[in-house]
Amino acid sequence: MCGIVGYIGTENNAKEVIIEGLKRLEYRGYDSAGIALCINGKIETRKHVGEISNLEKIIGDVYFESTTGIGHTRWATHGAPSDLNAHPHSNSDNTITVVHNGIIENYVELREWLREDYGVKFKSDTDTEVIAHLIGIYYDGDLYQAVCRAVEQMRGAYAIGVIAAAEPDKMVAVRKDAPLVAGIGEGCNFIASDIPALLKYVRRIFLIENNETVVLTKDDIKIYDEHQKLVRRDVFHVTWDADAAEKGGYDHFMMKEIHEQPKGLDETLTRRLDEDGDINLDGISMTKEDIEGFNKVYIVACGTAYHAGLVGKAAIEKLAKIPVEVDIASEFRYRDPFVDDKTLFIAISQSGETLDTLAALREAKKKGARILSVVNVVGSSVARESDDVFYTWAGPEIAVASTKAYTTQLMCMYLIALYMGRTKGVIDKEYYSRFIEELRGIPDKLQTVLNREADIEQIARKYCRKEQVFFIGRGVDSAVSYEGSLKLKEISYINSFAIAAGELKHGTIALIEEGTLVFALATQDFLFEKMLSNIKEIQARGANIVGIAKEGNREIEQESSEVIYLPECMDEVTPLLAVVPLQIFAYYVAKFRACNIDKPKNLAKSVTVE
Ligand code: AGP
Repeated sequence: MCGIVGYIGTENNAKEVIIEGLKRLEYRGYDSAGIALCINGKIETRKHVGEISNLEKIIGDVYFESTTGIGHTRWATHGAPSDLNAHPHSNSDNTITVVHNGIIENYVELREWLREDYGVKFKSDTDTEVIAHLIGIYYDGDLYQAVCRAVEQMRGAYAIGVIAAAEPDKMVAVRKDAPLVAGIGEGCNFIASDIPALLKYVRRIFLIENNETVVLTKDDIKIYDEHQKLVRRDVFHVTWDADAAEKGGYDHFMMKEIHEQPKGLDETLTRRLDEDGDINLDGISMTKEDIEGFNKVYIVACGTAYHAGLVGKAAIEKLAKIPVEVDIASEFRYRDPFVDDKTLFIAISQSGETLDTLAALREAKKKGARILSVVNVVGSSVARESDDVFYTWAGPEIAVASTKAYTTQLMCMYLIALYMGRTKGVIDKEYYSRFIEELRGIPDKLQTVLNREADIEQIARKYCRKEQVFFIGRGVDSAVSYEGSLKLKEISYINSFAIAAGELKHGTIALIEEGTLVFALATQDFLFEKMLSNIKEIQARGANIVGIAKEGNREIEQESSEVIYLPECMDEVTPLLAVVPLQIFAYYVAKFRACNIDKPKNLAKSVTVE
């Protein structure tokens, strides 16, 4: 997804700082990169399709030095990935240059107007170029004022960074529904779409809010609201370490993050548990009356986070006896859903910047719902716009394929469900305490599953050339099947499909033939016999079955080619363990197929466009 970095300082090191910042954002996925610097009263721009290393090759010249500049990594939305469409974009006489994340919804209209009334000739297919021309026509020596006038005409969700040839000692940035921060340096200042871009240089950050404009010089950062009033903002101190975002000895971030799950889960749990084992919701104001007043919970998210929501539904319905709907954010926002002031709306998002999830949240808020979010990135948009936030504490997740964010999201959902159930009096103290003990034991049990990595690698080696894989399960196992299937397809590009096992015989079983690979999740004791019957049905058609079951349920061996055993645990919490072999399997299949594991094609870590 697109990334913005901007720098204004005293030394001629803008190029180095911006390129370094852009590299820190590479993990988000991009198709081209570019940089623009103020040099001797002019703006020099270099941009190139492909990786940042391509850009570096073309800016190797020694004269590309400046104290002020902006850079960008682009993930195409308007116009194909190309040198011309890459950012930054400039106005006709190259005096105003812009980088931009997001979408300008009325860009066609603006483009026509600029063409007809000002004779503008466009060089790219992007909506961003419109912004540069728009600012250009309003510019009369005051970049801030020109940006304000342009913004009045722009509709959409965006963050922009702007420089002007005539004001090399100034940079202006605007945030509207797309992430933006300003970094506070000494004798230099920064802008970025994401904090990691700046961590090498600063830890003191201003989180920019919607409809705010930032004016930066090397010594000063001023934030203005939409009425051009100066805004006072507290400094946000980033405490997490940039090293946490490095690979730490693993070949890929994904494997590192898979192995970080015991720690992440322990962190998520212990931050919410008092010494006596009670769940504390510090910072979340949810009283008994509030909980008793909810007649429905709506969980909304995208991708992996949505799959976590499916497990959350099972937990809340079982433990708190409140009906739960789970919806995909891009569907929810256009459905006019039944949400009112008795609805608890739970948004789940690792990044906290997923545009569809954010839009769904706003929709629910408008309808009066109480908003609780489950988010990994502190200070992200979803977190800031929610009434309450339940952080996942997974640490930065860099690989596009989400792993530790998923399991920590599950942990949050269990804690929310337990808290609601206990507060409402639906579950008794004994069951509650047993559940908490079970959750406390999960990090060690997960480590036991991780210790089986070599066996899972062998299974992946054996089946890595299959072109089609199925995942089946019942109850929460079907929710985990969806996640296992998504993991495999997104990083190995194998066509995979997940289905509730009982649904197979209503159509999909037609695809099962000799040698079809099927992962059969049979972790639920009360559904085990039923699953065995489903497994027998597909085994009779010649499928290769990899079973996933608890250690005690050995009968599955007779029907499976391979079995991966999980430590004994309550049925309710098996998703925390069952997903792990599927993550490792997907990882090794992708590795054996020489895929780009951390940055799969066509995907981005943070999807900040619709
Ligand atoms: C997971 O592996 C994905 N790459 C993707 O489905 C992701 O979970 C989804 O885009 C939601 O992201 P979020 O959690 O940051 O909102």
